[in-house]
Amino acid sequence: MSKNVLIAPSILSADFSILGQEIKAVEQAGADWLHIDVMDGHFVPNLTMGPMILDSIKQCSDLYLDVHLMVSHPEQWLEPFAKAGASGLTIHAEATPHIQRCLSAIKDLGLKAGLSLTPSTPLSFIEHIMDDLDLLLLMTVNPGFGGQSYISAMTQKIAAAAERIQHSGKNIILQVDGGVNRETVDAIKKAGARCLVAGSAVFKSDNYTSIIKQLKQ
Ligand code: DX5
Ligand code: ZN
Repeated sequence: MSKNVLIAPSILSADFSILGQEIKAVEQAGADWLHIDVMDGHFVPNLTMGPMILDSIKQCSDLYLDVHLMVSHPEQWLEPFAKAGASGLTIHAEATPHIQRCLSAIKDLGLKAGLSLTPSTPLSFIEHIMDDLDLLLLMTVNPGFGGQSYISAMTQKIAAAAERIQHSGKNIILQVDGGVNRETVDAIKKAGARCLVAGSAVFKSDNYTSIIKQLKQ
């Protein structure tokens, strides 16, 4: 079950004064993807980075750039982030009434399309749009900040999502974000997650190689 798990360090917990070095370090430590948390101070109570920063990240990394858009009205940000070098864009189901249109616009830009659900949003949101999904991101904390505790009730949601995806026969990556660390990782992988986002567990550790290896095992 835990074979081929991808690790996507979230740069939200990196040292931004040396962001380029931090990115190189996780790349060399075995990271599969780089997770970029975009927050608008409206959809979530925090502000982070825009396309300009992504453009700089693109200049210093060849990793898959997994952009998590925690923004209201994501439709207006798809093209700017695509131009800045995103590999995949994940929108929030709670952020737009036009989820399918948005996912299809992401694919039209040539990028992988992801949908994220906050902890209280039911899995049934994906029922009629599975054809449009490359990735399903289950938030296991309330979005907005790094370093929060994993909500244990989410393990059951991950298992239900994994089963639904498997049953559909579609190649949708099940990603989990929030509170992924040494203590929580086994249950998350056992439930069927295929891509793990980890912010503080990686960047607050003193050995990136060892923590990435442990999360992956
Ligand atoms: C939270 C972000 C996460 C965050 C995870 O809203 O979406 O990607 O960086 O941080 P940790 O791994 O510390 O919970
Ligand atoms: Zn995230």
